[in-house]
Formats: sequence, structure tokens, C-alpha cells
Amino acid sequence: MSSGMPDIPAPLTNLKTQYTKIFINNEWHASVSGKKFAVINPATEEVICHVEEGDKEDVDKAVKAARQAFQIGSPWRTMDASERGQLLYKLADLMERDRLLLATMEAMNGGKLFTNAYLMDLGACIKTLRYYAGWADKIQGRTIPADGNIFTYTRHEPIGVCGQIIPWNFPLVMLIWKIGTALSCGNTVVVKPAEQTPLTALHVASLIKEAGFPPGVVNIVPGYGPTAGAAISSHMDVDKVAFTGSTEVGKLIKEAAGKSNLKRVTLELGGKSPCIVFADADLDSAVECAHQGLFYHQGQCCSAATRLFVEESIYDEFVRRSVERAKKYVLGNPLTPGVNQGPQIDKEQHNKILDLIESGKKEGAKLECGGGPWGNKGYFIQPTVFSNVTDDMRIAKEEIFGPVQQIMKFKSLDDLIKRANNTHYGLAAGIFTKDLDKAITVSSALQAGSVWVNCYLMGAVQSPFGGFKMSGNGREMGEYGLHEYTEVKTVTVNISQKNS
Ligand code: NAI
Ligand code: MG
Repeated sequence: MSSGMPDIPAPLTNLKTQYTKIFINNEWHASVSGKKFAVINPATEEVICHVEEGDKEDVDKAVKAARQAFQIGSPWRTMDASERGQLLYKLADLMERDRLLLATMEAMNGGKLFTNAYLMDLGACIKTLRYYAGWADKIQGRTIPADGNIFTYTRHEPIGVCGQIIPWNFPLVMLIWKIGTALSCGNTVVVKPAEQTPLTALHVASLIKEAGFPPGVVNIVPGYGPTAGAAISSHMDVDKVAFTGSTEVGKLIKEAAGKSNLKRVTLELGGKSPCIVFADADLDSAVECAHQGLFYHQGQCCSAATRLFVEESIYDEFVRRSVERAKKYVLGNPLTPGVNQGPQIDKEQHNKILDLIESGKKEGAKLECGGGPWGNKGYFIQPTVFSNVTDDMRIAKEEIFGPVQQIMKFKSLDDLIKRANNTHYGLAAGIFTKDLDKAITVSSALQAGSVWVNCYLMGAVQSPFGGFKMSGNGREMGEYGLHEYTEVKTVTVNISQKNS
């Protein structure tokens, strides 16, 4: 095989959770309040373990440690940039060493298919770390031919202490996207994993220490959003906050930044991404890509193809094939071989999705398959397809974050672009056509941070990712991602005579 994909081993069966405490200054701490919270396996609803619950006081401790590590003259600030790169390479190697453990843990805690966790999530993390390791000593300023007898140059300096708030749908990938970029640029970080999925982040904390990062460079405080999360976004000594999650909380984070110290804010929020299939598309491939684009990870992707617009002449056939495809799932524990759909993350998401499914039925969409919960334990939902969906229905407007596909019909191109852009979101879009002119024309007209042509959900560490409109601010990944983690300093030196 030349796919470059590693062979997939069986998941670990004797996984023990070793790390359950707050990680500050390369040490493990109990919470100041003495509180802990339960971490649940969403496939079985069983408690995996209890983790120390960080709150404001713990965030304060972590921010102090991160500030100390960022002081002028500290080991981290005086380290060669190439050495920062070496530490990131080392972390990548350690994640590769522990790939099986991390993938098993991610699957168990996050309800993620083990094979996806092993191949896609761990693969992406390791690549991301190596990509940003390479950047560490290539982040350069400029010399500028400024007017006057002066010598002017810019320095791209780290911003300082960066708060990073992580969601539960890609616990490891979002952690590594955020710390990889921040550390490559020389920042220090205080990370809050999602309350549902803190375990892999805490294992990575142990690897941070093993890799040899100086104390205080990375601090990880598990806890809840309105407490630990809010303490980060409103902190007076945090210089930047990066967040991935709901648009609702994204607004709160900007507000908290505005009410405190105007810290820099980058946000990667929700979406209601259009995926457009023209009649001339390769139908097999369009059905499969649109299907994966929605059902991947139980629909819990911010860029899910959740508004599928299909040209009238192929609509009925497209729906027929999509339903046939959606019926093929084997639901169950994501660690069990042969299972290809796991649970939703928690009861809250489960209820939200079921409520939206009910609204679709009530508002007159045609339920083609699925439409309810599955099994008697775990937060499972049957793969669901709605046809005859119209733009005004809740299922066509609200982010569902579940295995629920909406198939709409379109006739004319003008009308289509207006409809596709008629949303507050602007994260991603897909276009399926064999007509190059149509592909390029429509991709320029769509308001979305990523447009995929004849593919969907195709990300790469080298390419920026982020949203237009209420899907976010700023970009992560690629060279663009580095700009969000540096401040530009202009240094102007008075000299006796300038020469060209
Ligand atoms: P959420 O936005 O509440 O949670 C994401 C992260 O933000 C978690 O770490 C959480 O603890 C933290 N958080 C929550 N409230 C906060 C606050 N006041 N201040 C600071 N941090 C806070 O998302 P939730 O409730 O888990 O899911 C709700 C919906 O959000 C989902 O149904 C989905 O539509 C969307 N979502 C989008 C994600 C994405 O990838 N863009 C990821 C997760 C959820
Ligand atoms: Mg929430």
C-alpha cells in the first residue's frame, strides 16, 4: 500500500487513566476548591474517572506560572528559536510513541471511532507539531526603507500569555493546533480542555514535561466554561484568548475581553455550511463526499455539510442514494471493530439534536430515514436524512451538530448563491461540478472561509482554516496561523546618514 497510512492496531483494552490533576509549572496540582468532576464515556454513560475541577483561583495560579515563564531573561525567552522547534519535534515523537494509548483514550472519552482517532486525529496532531516545529526559527521580521535618517526593522514577537479554550469534538486536534502555533512563536499558554473530554489533554501535559519544555510554558486547567473558561477570557494578565466552540460562547469571550484588558481574540465558531451539487457532478462521488461531509464523527464537525443544495434534475436520485448510504451504519461502542457510528458527546447534545429532528418533522420536511435515538444506553442517534427541506425550517438554519442531513432543491444559479449565503455563519462550503468555470465562479461568490471543490472536509496543516461572518475571527493553521500569535514591533533607530 502506498497510502502513507500506518497499520491500525487494536485499541488498548486495559487503559488506565493516570493523569487527573491540574498541570501548572510542570507539576500536578489538586484544585484550590477541592472539587472534582466526573468524566463520562458517552457510549456507556459510565464514569471513567474524576478529574480536579479548576476554577478562577486555579486559573490565577496557571496564569502566574505562564507569566513567570514568559519573563524577559527566562529560559523560554532566551532559548534559541530552533530549540523551541526541537522541543515541538520531541513532543511529536512522544505523541507518536503514545499514539495507541492516546487514540484509545480519545475514542473512549470522546465517543470517536477508534480508527478515526488513530489515523485522522493522532495523524493530524503529529503532523501539526512537526509543521510548527519547522516554523519556529523561520518567523522573520523585515527591514523597512522608511523616510528619514533612520534604520527601521520589525520584530515578530510572541504575544505573551495565551489562554486557549478547547471543544470536545476534536479534543486533541484542537489542543495541538492551538499550542503548536503558540509555542512555535514563543508564547506561553494556559489551556482549558472541554469539561467532557479532559483526559487526552492531561496525558499530553505529561508529555510536555517529558519533552523538556521549561516549567510554566504550558499549563492545563480542566474545568467548566462559565467558571474556569470565563476566568481565562476575563483575566487581566492574559494577553490573548483563542477559542473553538459555539457562536454563543464566542460572543461571551469577546465581551469578556472587551470588559477586561482588550486581550487579542481569535474565534473558530459554528457553521451551517452549504454544499452544492450541480447536475453535471460525478454523482457517486458527490453523494459519498456530501455524506461524509455531514456524518463524519456523528455530525459533530464545525464545517459539516449541513445545508445540501441539489440541482432539481438530479434531486430525487441524489436523495435515494443518500438514504441508501445513510442506512448502512453499524452503531455501537466506537472501540468495537466493525462499528462505524459512535455516540454523541453528552445528554445535552443528544437532546438538542432530537429537538431539532422533531422540529424538522413538525415543520414539514420529509423524514427519509432515522429520526430518533438508538439503543438503551449511550447517547446514540440514528443516522437521519430529511428531504424536501426548505430554507425557513429550523433544521436549515440552526447548527445541529448531529447525524442529520438536510437535502434541499435548487433551480437557478442566482437564487442559489443568495440562498447559500443567507446565514449568519460563513465557515465552509462545498461545490460539486465538472464545469471549471462554474466551480471557480461560485467559489468566489460564497461567503465562507473554506470552499471545497469536488471534495469536502479536506484540511491540511499547511492551509489556513477559519470563518467569515459569525463563524469566527482569525485563521488557524498554515503560515496565516502564525500571524495570530505574534505582535509586530517596529524598531526605529536614529542614524547619522542613510544610504540606499
Ligand atoms: P461551548 O461553546 O459551550 O463549549 C466549548 C468550550 O467553551 C468548552 O471548553 C467550554 O467549557 C467552554 N465554555 C463554555 N462556556 C464558556 C464561557 N462562558 N466562557 C469561556 N469558555 C466557555 O459548546 P457546547 O455547549 O459544548 O456545544 C454547544 C454547541 O456549540 C454545539 O451543539 C455546536 O453547535 C457548537 N460547537 C461548535 C464547535 C466547533 O467546532 N466550532 C465545538 C463544540 C460545540
Ligand atoms: Mg455550552
